[in-house]
Amino acid sequence: MIAIKPRILCVDDEIKNLKLLKAVLVPEGYEVIEAQNGREAMERMREQHIDLVLLDIMMPEIDGFEVCRMIKDNEKTRNIPVVIITTLASKEDRVKGINAGAEEFLSKPFDRLEVLARVKMLLRVKDLNDRLNYAYANINRLTTFGEKIMKTFNPMDFDLRQKIDILVSQIIRQKSNMIEKPEIVLVRFLNEKNNYEWYKYEFVFDKLEKVSFQPDIIIRLPKGEDSRLFFYNQAVIEGTMFESFVEKLRNFAISVTNMVCYLSDPVSVFSLNYGRDVSAHDAAVLNNLIMQIMFLKTLSSQVKETEDAFAYTVHALARAAEANDEDTGNHIVRVGIYSAMLATKLKMPEKFIETIRLQAQMHDVGKVHTHPDILRKPGKLTDEEWAEMKKHTVYGAKIIGDHQRFHAAKKISLAHHEKWDGSGYPNGLSGEHIPIEGRIVSIADIYDALRNARSYKPAFDHNTACKIIIEGDGRTTPYHFDPQVLKAFKETADKFEEIYEKLKG
Ligand code: C2E
Ligand code: SIN
Ligand code: SIN
Ligand code: FE
Repeated sequence: MIAIKPRILCVDDEIKNLKLLKAVLVPEGYEVIEAQNGREAMERMREQHIDLVLLDIMMPEIDGFEVCRMIKDNEKTRNIPVVIITTLASKEDRVKGINAGAEEFLSKPFDRLEVLARVKMLLRVKDLNDRLNYAYANINRLTTFGEKIMKTFNPMDFDLRQKIDILVSQIIRQKSNMIEKPEIVLVRFLNEKNNYEWYKYEFVFDKLEKVSFQPDIIIRLPKGEDSRLFFYNQAVIEGTMFESFVEKLRNFAISVTNMVCYLSDPVSVFSLNYGRDVSAHDAAVLNNLIMQIMFLKTLSSQVKETEDAFAYTVHALARAAEANDEDTGNHIVRVGIYSAMLATKLKMPEKFIETIRLQAQMHDVGKVHTHPDILRKPGKLTDEEWAEMKKHTVYGAKIIGDHQRFHAAKKISLAHHEKWDGSGYPNGLSGEHIPIEGRIVSIADIYDALRNARSYKPAFDHNTACKIIIEGDGRTTPYHFDPQVLKAFKETADKFEEIYEKLKG
């Protein structure tokens, strides 16, 4: 990209010649950087953005051909046009210059108009070339950006601000010589309280810095529009809807030379001070990045809505199954929470934890098919009644069905009364043949059943419940439980009590 004021490096060991070039170039709006030898020339090029090099041939130490070769051998400087200046327009020198990679030749003494014509033409070619490369780089950037966002995309926990941070770090200038990028990016959010929050991003000492500020100005979109793109090269900002905005920014030591902006109510982005002219293309790139973020935001709120509806359904279904049971209050909710606590202690993945928290609620859904007289019987069950009672596990699995969303719930219903030593029901599975979900919910369910009064049993306090689970009481033995899960229970027992107290009744 050509700087707004194109920068030309003039290299000559004779100060007189440098002065001459300067006198020709500066009045035409070029910035001239001087170097008196090859080493100095290379140093200048390392330090700053250069758009074109005018190069003398005969210099002490490193001659012009060598400097040209170094420029053309370096990936970073290869695209900068080099004009070689020769006194002797000898054929031999020209061939040497071409071999060194020079684009053009000028002969001393200079003809003012010729110098200007050559420079202008070369800069135009370079600009076109740069724009092509830049367009290509932008396509790559969009892809990288999309990939980066997708990698961290969690629809249940979508943080718009964090995504905007990623966006900004992709487009902002990170080194002073990246003149194609904006120096400063401002972002405006509409927060939950319907207030605008403003942030200013800038690279300071190799780090993206973000500070909040309050410019105390309302920028409104033209009536009837949701969003709009703007771009301004300096002169145009005056007299536009951004005039007073740009004025206000001066109070925050921000002076605007040019601006590309995306304006909408939920989020607006202002990219300021590109080191080159901005165009509709820059606005389009910005727009594309923001559309990607907005798309993910919409997607995530839809996913969230669906998940909420799903959670509601699971809970309602689980609740329905309690209709015939005694009043078990928050039993199902607590069992879900204990199960999630055990799963966390067992270092299960996040997804597993959230699934078990929700779907463990359905463990006894099969009890809708159990006769109320059995469920509410004050005393011990007969063999027949017990045989019927045990079927609630299988009924539950049948009600839940085979939808893959309910896979965990089905396993839990079927396996929550299986026992590690193989003495459980309905299938008498043992050890790791019992799905881990079942092994976890088993302890959660029993703890809670023990704490509550049932028609057939009194309520036990926390310590008694723990003792029954950890040491056994004849009906329950420690061999019923997966040793890992039992260990997790021992380590989190305090939290079981907390949850029970908090959510009892
Ligand atoms: P529930 O009442 O929700 O109890 C769930 C599990 O907690 C029981 O599974 C058992 O493992 C444990 N549990 C409950 N109370 C006690 C207790 O006092 N001591 C010990 N050691 N463990 C206890 P289980 O035994 O497979 O029973 C499943 C379901 O069958 C119970 O769910 C309840 O609805 C019913 N049930 C079990 N025994 C009786 C009974 O004697 N009378 C009646 N009416 N129902 C019973
Ligand atoms: C580019 O910037 O990528 C080239 C297109 C333009 O700026 O008009
Ligand atoms: C840039 O021009 O480098 C940043 C602007 C954009 O990509 O939208
Ligand atoms: Fe059960």
